[in-house]
Amino acid sequence: MKINNGLMVLPGMADVHVHLRVPGGEHKEDYRTGSAAALAGGITSLMAMPNTTPPIITLEDWQTAQKKANEESLCDVALFAGASVTFLESLPELSRYAPALKLYMDLTYGELRVDGLDNLARIAQLWPREKVLALHAEGDSVKTGLDLAKKYHRRVHFCHISRKEEIEWIAAAKNQGLLVTCEVTPHHLFLNESDAKRLGPLGDMRPRLAKQSDLDALWAHINTTIDCVASDHAPHTLAEKQNSENPPPGVPGLESTLPLLLTAAAEGRLSYERLVALLAVNPRRIYGLPEQPETWIEVDPKACYVFPEHSLYTKCGWSPFSGFPVQGRIRKVVLRGKDAVKDGVVHEFVR
Ligand code: NCD
Ligand code: ZN
Ligand code: ZN
Ligand code: ZN
Repeated sequence: MKINNGLMVLPGMADVHVHLRVPGGEHKEDYRTGSAAALAGGITSLMAMPNTTPPIITLEDWQTAQKKANEESLCDVALFAGASVTFLESLPELSRYAPALKLYMDLTYGELRVDGLDNLARIAQLWPREKVLALHAEGDSVKTGLDLAKKYHRRVHFCHISRKEEIEWIAAAKNQGLLVTCEVTPHHLFLNESDAKRLGPLGDMRPRLAKQSDLDALWAHINTTIDCVASDHAPHTLAEKQNSENPPPGVPGLESTLPLLLTAAAEGRLSYERLVALLAVNPRRIYGLPEQPETWIEVDPKACYVFPEHSLYTKCGWSPFSGFPVQGRIRKVVLRGKDAVKDGVVHEFVR
């Protein structure tokens, strides 16, 4: 690792699982606030999910949203398209523009779930084999996803893998040569079922927090099976989380992901080289994200602090990690030769 005046120089991080809530959920997050939160968290490139209101499922939806994202975002933002049974025929055309397709196999926030083996198989055949098909799959759906990868000789990426058996199935599939990749979230690496109890609705997301034995299994695969770490930044307002009969699942993560992994690196749970592979190199490779010239971040690996309660850039304004002791502070973010963040302040961002 390059060290300069006590600061570690790392590539800009790439977060390939982010919810920016445009259109329809701008009170939770928008391109500007979400991309500012990304930069504050050392992330210079992100991919946003299509489970918006309405969802992004046609070429027209995707082009409109991508244009708006390009105009309003402070970092690089690439948008997923969403798989929906209503627009199966349009998938080949959509695939000429959208970098990846997201397929929801299980129930979560939003209305983009696809049901039935026939539909799943059609989508796995219609979306180009070499392009990423990213799955929200839990439990048996992971097995189904692996079957699709095998049967159609195609690439499949598993989002937010959280259970011991799931990571072991994926390890076995990789050993058989299937073209599969997977990501885990910081909340599934650092929080378990007892944290879920303590946090109440603020610790509720899909997949739900798991047993300590699941966390241990994920950590056991951190240098092998796990290809990348992504935040699954899923902002909902405090009011929505705390004052509702049926709080929406999801937690924010853009500003906590890198600090948590830097902490794990400081503790020797993974190397700084592995951190860079998981958060910068591999996610860019999986999704074919463009290189960002003259882009880097500077981190003080020794600085210890408590993850803040307030003064976050995400519009939702809270974090399940508030109060966590962390080690490793982002001192500077440079994007295409310009200072984007200095000592926690995002340049160009007016609240
Ligand atoms: C996500 C959201 O709020 O959009 N929620 C979540 O609990 N993870 C949806 C998702 O990623 O499944
Ligand atoms: Zn999901
Ligand atoms: Zn998500
Ligand atoms: Zn310390």
